[in-house]
Amino acid sequence: MLGTGETGVLLKERGMDVPLETGETAYFNYFWLRDNCPSSFDHETRERAFDIFAEVEAPRAVSAAISGGVLEIAWAGTDHVTRMPLSLLANYAKGEKRADVAKVSRSPWFADHYGRMARFSYSRLTEGETELRNWAKAMLTDGIALLTGLPDTDAALLDTASLIGHVRPSYFGQVFEVKTHIKPTNLAFTSKALPLHTDLPDEDLAPGIQFLHCRANTVEGGNSLFVDGLAVAEDFRLAFPEDFELLVATDVPYFCEHERFDMRSRQRVIELDEYGNISGVTISQHHADMFDLPQQELDRFYPAFCRFGQMMRREKYMMQFRLKAGECIVFDNHRIVHGRAEYSANSGDRHLRGCYTDRGELRSIYRVLEGKKERME
Ligand SMILES: [Fe+2]
Repeated sequence: MLGTGETGVLLKERGMDVPLETGETAYFNYFWLRDNCPSSFDHETRERAFDIFAEVEAPRAVSAAISGGVLEIAWAGTDHVTRMPLSLLANYAKGEKRADVAKVSRSPWFADHYGRMARFSYSRLTEGETELRNWAKAMLTDGIALLTGLPDTDAALLDTASLIGHVRPSYFGQVFEVKTHIKPTNLAFTSKALPLHTDLPDEDLAPGIQFLHCRANTVEGGNSLFVDGLAVAEDFRLAFPEDFELLVATDVPYFCEHERFDMRSRQRVIELDEYGNISGVTISQHHADMFDLPQQELDRFYPAFCRFGQMMRREKYMMQFRLKAGECIVFDNHRIVHGRAEYSANSGDRHLRGCYTDRGELRSIYRVLEGKKERME
């Protein structure tokens, strides 16, 4: 303990105790106080302009006092004075994560979700920010939304995606075409059932938000299947807690190998967010590499993995519907598992055009739009 400041501030060796307006006293580290001095941030770029690495000596306060709701600090070895509002300090007093409007509660959904699914018309989304904010919120809470009335053009998909982010290419390029004709020319474009999966877990950072613009769907069959991985994972945690822990902690290898690429990455079947809540799942049997885990560990892992995969296929979770031309289904590729029922290949055309954006940009645009709403209210 080095000394006592005025108005109840207590200077210590590495930091100080500050009485806050809440009546509580909180400890703040000197490095933190100096680094986050309001003068550290450039007004134009809003970035930190202060260089803590350039400080030869560890920052140390020589005096500190509170005046008009502001903590004023005089520093040793410099004439710099820090003026820090107590209201700002209160936000960091308990070491809790910074408040985030984009941290909205996720709502798990089940097989009957189709009628309740958030729907937005393309024309209204392009008109104003209120609908855009509602769409972004639906993506954060439900992980899925249905857009209607898209023009039947190549540009419509990219125009839509650009409303909530930048299109983020995969190793298949900017966009991909799920296209099947009466005479398919490629095995990938067959009419066979497509098992439930998330896309491209063989990428380091698997795509975040997926867009599928339905350009044509005149075939018999071919219903779209969507499952909320969050709903399954929450039930799985209750029913099989030990299996759950295993799927949260085990890295599973994924791959995609052809003449011109050899993609490999590892993902966890059930994913938790930074708060420890379930954020989603990664499932893809067709991109799963041969598991290179110790064989003894597989004695436990495979049964847990299969129990989860089987639970995911239960009717209870399976939302099935027919995508219509002009619709675009948008979903969180780290949470929503998707697939397709088989269809009759000689019964018509089915064409979906797809692309991806990232989830970070979705949260970003939601924060911006929500901030504007708060300022207007
Ligand atoms: Fe897919």
